Amino acid sequence: ATERTLSIIKPDATKRNLTGKIVSKFEDAGLRVVASKRIHLSPAQAGAFYAEHAERPFYGELVDFMSSQPVVVQVLEGEGAILKNREVMGATDPAEAAAGTIRKDFAVSKGENSVHGSDSPESAAREIAFFFSGLELVG
Ligand code: CMP
Repeated sequence: ATERTLSIIKPDATKRNLTGKIVSKFEDAGLRVVASKRIHLSPAQAGAFYAEHAERPFYGELVDFMSSQPVVVQVLEGEGAILKNREVMGATDPAEAAAGTIRKDFAVSKGENSVHGSDSPESAAREIAFFFSGLELVG
């Protein structure tokens, strides 16, 4: 089925001018960018987005990092988009990511791992609504 998923190009990647190269990998895999914006998250906004991780030991580091520099938030659409996006991203830890994936090619570490993608249909719905109104999604 056609799905939509929320993608974030993280500060380590926007800082190194990797936005275009990352979007190319999504497009080459058949995902379409149906919404896109570059924003600088406040710590409160980053904290709210990652609220499910609030009890994790890396939460403070994650919030600091995600609010340190601009990010590019996008909605990607395509057949099985949620899983496809995760395949193109590769494993969370770049040391474990497969060849050709975004994280293998570009990520610095587990924390500075260049991209975020929704992990389920429920997360995708919540995360898309966190950043975009229906009018901003142009399929
Ligand atoms: P993301 O998909 O954005 O969702 C939660 C993020 O937490 C994850 O990607 C990682 O970047 C980050 N994360 C996971 N484990 C660690 C860790 N051990 N140290 C720092 N950050 C982490």
